Amino acid sequence: MSNIESVLNETRVFPPPEAMVKQANVSGMAAYKAMCDEAERDFEGFWARLARENLLWSKPFTKTLDESGAPFYKWFHDGELNASYNCLDRHLKTQPDKVAIIFEADDGKVTKVTYKELYHRVCQFANGLKSLGIKQGERVLVYMPMSIEAVVAMQACARIGATHSVVFGGFSAKSLQERIIDAGAIAVICADGQFRGGKEIPLKPAVDEALAMGGCESIRDVVVYKRSGSPVAMNAPRDKWWHDVTQGQAQDCEPTWVNAEHPLFILYTSGSTGKPKGVQHSTGGFLLQAMLTMKWVFDYKPTDVFWCTADVGWVTGHTYIAYGPLAVGATEVVFEGVPTYPDAGRFWKMIQDHKVNVFYTAPTAIRSLIKAGGDLPKKYDLSSLRILGTVGEPINPEAWMWYHETVGGSRCPIVDTWWQTETGGHMITPLPGVTPLVPGSCTLALPGIMAAIVDETGQDVPNGQGGLLVIKRPWPSMIRTIWGDPERYKKSYFPEELGGKLYLAGDGSLRDKETGYFRIVGRIDDVLNVSGHRLGTMEIESALVANSRLVAEAAVVGRPDDMTGEAVVAFVVLKGHRPTGDEAKALAKELRDWVAKEIGPIAKPKEIRFGDNLPKTRSGKIMRRLLRAIARGEEITQDISTLENPAILDQLKQTL
Ligand code: WT7
Repeated sequence: MSNIESVLNETRVFPPPEAMVKQANVSGMAAYKAMCDEAERDFEGFWARLARENLLWSKPFTKTLDESGAPFYKWFHDGELNASYNCLDRHLKTQPDKVAIIFEADDGKVTKVTYKELYHRVCQFANGLKSLGIKQGERVLVYMPMSIEAVVAMQACARIGATHSVVFGGFSAKSLQERIIDAGAIAVICADGQFRGGKEIPLKPAVDEALAMGGCESIRDVVVYKRSGSPVAMNAPRDKWWHDVTQGQAQDCEPTWVNAEHPLFILYTSGSTGKPKGVQHSTGGFLLQAMLTMKWVFDYKPTDVFWCTADVGWVTGHTYIAYGPLAVGATEVVFEGVPTYPDAGRFWKMIQDHKVNVFYTAPTAIRSLIKAGGDLPKKYDLSSLRILGTVGEPINPEAWMWYHETVGGSRCPIVDTWWQTETGGHMITPLPGVTPLVPGSCTLALPGIMAAIVDETGQDVPNGQGGLLVIKRPWPSMIRTIWGDPERYKKSYFPEELGGKLYLAGDGSLRDKETGYFRIVGRIDDVLNVSGHRLGTMEIESALVANSRLVAEAAVVGRPDDMTGEAVVAFVVLKGHRPTGDEAKALAKELRDWVAKEIGPIAKPKEIRFGDNLPKTRSGKIMRRLLRAIARGEEITQDISTLENPAILDQLKQTL
């Protein structure tokens, strides 16, 4: 890790505007430090206080943190609550008529629901799920477009104590089938289709295909929300329309009180091996940090309109669409479409139309919008904006400056939030009324989050020196286990090499010598970050070799990309001869489409190179470091004396 160096020497500093500090929920550095000190002094007391102040408990907890089964931690374990009650019922007396969701469809049609309406819709659907016999603890797979109904589906599961597992609508039938099997899901909630960028994209056929692949016999019901209205096959008695399931159901539904540790959801994410990990989250701890970060990081104010542009298929859409904003009682925007349709001004127009105050998006979206129309924001009235946020990957200082000046009018703090599917909520991030900003840095850990940088033996490294990003103490919204694979949970996140007690994030990082600010350098494992989406190189490799008609062997690496952060490059050995020219181009296309079908379009290799074989050591290990250098077009400076077949390097340097 000593080879992690900061290539950036960013000296610009943007202190929080005076007016922002004054009104902020966490006002000024001293207030932030006081909370950090409280957490240092009395770790459990700190979290217990916040859990009592923020969550509504049907049965109060008496014990805050149970470490007896470490690293399987339990938070607020003898307490009981319901996530949906905490998001909806709590607002029924105080603000029933406040708009909860402003939904804008791909075609621009706007639908609003109030807290009271959302509550009734969730209750009706929850009663519908109950009528199908879905019970507490059973897993329900959600495969939905961005919609009010996606939120309703998740909230309804939470209401009856069913554990949802949302699969991103861009994932393929194969990915869906794997997740259904792994989760042992008993029902699927989906839509007939969705609209994105003016095009209709079917969803239900992928569900049919997944279920026909076999192994999904656990599925008893498929509930289909009619979005596109295009004809779909309805397989009776398994398939039911959403509107039939809710028809005649009561508008109230007593929440099922669950233990604070009850799994609210499972969300699959990529790891270092071919098989995605089912990240299991709790109810109490997860919801607590969703609320706290809405208040601290997004400085939530009752009059705010909040917009997180993520899809509900990712953790960002769980924490900052389906739960966090509702739990604090916010008005939030939910958007079905894409940022470039009908043109690259869509986001800016929506901010203007809905008077958005807090806007949260991904660096990759920012970069693509700069490219598609860097001056477009100036055509819109963006004066409602107060705070901007980014998530998913490091933001390059150029994109940061554009976001700050052109979108935020140089007045809005940017919260560059570092976190992961596994952390459940923000971990390292500026606070808008506290932290002087440095472009490209996620700055400091939140109070109670004991983030540090260590070497390969788990020892702290001094500021200025690169190393592994770890969290030294558990936190309420942390991953509880990998669904069905506790051993993998231990090995991936609490490795023995580091002493077994540190949470290993999988990112390389370093802290600034003077300020202690964190900067994330990138993944240290075989995980790529393409457009802010996590992809395992092994997962793409297994998808490629699954094409047993064509592929003999494959190795996948990442390469920096101006637009997507990282791009996927695949080195492939075909059965038979090594193709060149048009044949190679046609086969590369076939394989790219194959990967899209196996995993989803986001995993498509940007480039495929064919070789007679791959660079291997004499013991047969693929030398990925060499492939990485080749993919980046770099000189190979590494030692290649252990390489079995050095001649292959020249062949692989050739592009199609
Ligand atoms: C990985 C987690 C958290 C929701 C979206 C991604 C990278 C995330 C940042 C940031 C630099 C970041 C890390 C992390 N990442 N946020 N602000 N700066 N890198 O969730 O799919 O679980 O991916 O995304 O590499 O480990 P995820």
